[in-house]
Amino acid sequence: MLKLAIFASGAGSNAAKIIEHFAGHSAVKIHLIVSNKKDAGVLGIAAANHLNTLIINRHQFYETADCVAALKSAGIDFVVLAGFLWKIPLNLIEAYPNRIINIHPALLPKYGGKGMYGMHVHEAVIAAGEIESGISIHYVNANYDEGAIIFQAKCPIEPTDSPTILANKIHALEHAHFPSVIEGLLRDLT
Ligand code: GAR
Repeated sequence: MLKLAIFASGAGSNAAKIIEHFAGHSAVKIHLIVSNKKDAGVLGIAAANHLNTLIINRHQFYETADCVAALKSAGIDFVVLAGFLWKIPLNLIEAYPNRIINIHPALLPKYGGKGMYGMHVHEAVIAAGEIESGISIHYVNANYDEGAIIFQAKCPIEPTDSPTILANKIHALEHAHFPSVIEGLLRDLT
């Protein structure tokens, strides 16, 4: 069994879709939900699914090896960032080479980097007058949103679309593709 940890800072709708997708899977188990926020919606999803959780603070995450130690002692094989907003420290990247992936709500390399998350991304895309946006699933390296791209999908933007409407389109794309892209990557690992 490959054991996954999902890191999330917010509502956790992607985490919920991934949990649902792998429920009862023969080779993959969602084993741990990690969050930097005590009140993140994703923790309610973890509780409803009887999943272990780990809450991390900045000091632990950036100045100790606690997080890596916790992942290793839980036997985690692969890490999925699903709306996790902190930069991943080098010790974690080195502990899981090519085994940490992220989803970004735009077509990287555009609209990525520090400060580009959630609605900030959609507001910037609409303000620039783009006619399409999309999602990018990529490996995580030491720089925000710069690891090798694994998968992208696009959606059109209508002239009347608000950032909220675009956010809904992007969430729908994420929910449709993220679980199966993860499954494809894991199939190559087994
Ligand atoms: C998702 O749209 C994800 O792409 C984005 O946060 C949202 C989380 O939604 N991630 C980033 O912006 C990372 N830079 P969710 O909590 O409902 O899954």
